[in-house]
Amino acid sequence: MASGKTAVGRELARRLGWRLFDTGIMYRAATWQAQKGSIYLDDDESVVELIRHSDFQLRAPATADSVELEVYVDGENATPHLREPEVESGVPTVAAIAGVRTLMVQIQQQQAMQGCMIVVGRDIGTVVLPDAPVKIFLDASAEVRAQRRAKERNQDADRASVLAATNRRDELDQRRAASPLVAAQDAITLNTSSLSLVEAVDRAEQIIRAHLPMPVSVVGGEA
Ligand code: DC
Repeated sequence: MASGKTAVGRELARRLGWRLFDTGIMYRAATWQAQKGSIYLDDDESVVELIRHSDFQLRAPATADSVELEVYVDGENATPHLREPEVESGVPTVAAIAGVRTLMVQIQQQQAMQGCMIVVGRDIGTVVLPDAPVKIFLDASAEVRAQRRAKERNQDADRASVLAATNRRDELDQRRAASPLVAAQDAITLNTSSLSLVEAVDRAEQIIRAHLPMPVSVVGGEA
């Protein structure tokens, strides 16, 4: 579940020299695209139709110090818009549309074939990459996640309202019919409530290194 998953994923990708693919950006970009097209988000059919005819591309990070893939829609970089309040409030509705998920999952699966990467998202271990070599389910209490979210947005905020919004979003994500948020059976759960970012990344890195297939070395010479 865990907020913190993007921060943990980003740091892990840096340590391992991999890319981070945070799949939430795709649902956010789809929401941005629908809102730009003035489509009513509850109108599933119109949203799916628009998304089907939109070109989503994931591209390498624009700056050398970033490890995160960025998302372009119809040639435009959607990344700067993805944390806007309107997108934030619309995204659970769009992410709950089964037809949107089918389209997004296909793109995610193609992307994941492109090499070693940390793929972050709620349904990665269950739906998108059921054969992923390592699955980690990050968990944390709602209070801790609400604090992180408020901090991410640089708000001293009204903690009660951030907590209420966090709970509301969790509930929508867990109850939706299409790919509800659940841990894969073979995922390793890492509860990060009382861990610092560095501690969480250390543990996740240990898990990954312990589970990755042994490197194979082929030495030339005799046939
Ligand atoms: O992780 P995030 O906050 O960027 O996710 C934004 C929304 O997209 C949130 O409502 C959950 C949804 N999402 C999803 O349903 N499946 C994913 N793989 C990633 C995100």
